[in-house]
Amino acid sequence: MNSSHLEKIRPEDIAVAFGLTDVRLGERPVVRRHLADLRGCFADEAAFEAALAADNPLLYEVCAVEPADGDGQLHYGLGVLYPGKVGDEYSLTKGHLHSHRPAAEVYIGLAGEGAMLLEDETTGTSRLVPLGKGQIVYVPGHTAHRTVNTGSAPLVYIGVYPANAGHDYASIAERNFRKVILERDGEPVLLDRPTR
Ligand code: F6R
Ligand code: MN
Repeated sequence: MNSSHLEKIRPEDIAVAFGLTDVRLGERPVVRRHLADLRGCFADEAAFEAALAADNPLLYEVCAVEPADGDGQLHYGLGVLYPGKVGDEYSLTKGHLHSHRPAAEVYIGLAGEGAMLLEDETTGTSRLVPLGKGQIVYVPGHTAHRTVNTGSAPLVYIGVYPANAGHDYASIAERNFRKVILERDGEPVLLDRPTR
């Protein structure tokens, strides 16, 4: 993993860093995904195995704030996706569909540079939408979504979703996204996933 060694922003610290003083993240569970947890996600398997043989760095952390269930309720997650690449592919989240397929989500970028890969489950079409500081991404229902960090600093964001959304990782793990985001001449480019 070619990752820069920047100081980590922990989700517990986001509340302080962004003045969200009533969130009390330190008291909430945080999901931490390391490189080994992302097996099968990156296109270049040889680069993945070589990176993992050298190190198993922390790739991202998510703190889910889920105050109440029930019709009309909302949940949100604070995410920090660290920069880096596996081969030419930028650091990424596993990605998922919502178990309740009509459930949409709004992502709000707080810091860093990145994008969201959106793949419509019905049509199979993909879009790469910028998600960085001050950028908002609307993820429609029935859309697989993955976050990528295309910059050199942590990408910090909030995702707000219906309490009944649920998370379906299995469908993505089975077939992966159709597109990949690779660095070409220093820029992120959306390309077809290479066939193995
Ligand atoms: C919640 C949501 C985000 C992600 C987070 C990590 O519905 O989309 O909070 O959970 O970006 O990505 P995954 O969950 O794909 O590992
Ligand atoms: Mn989601």
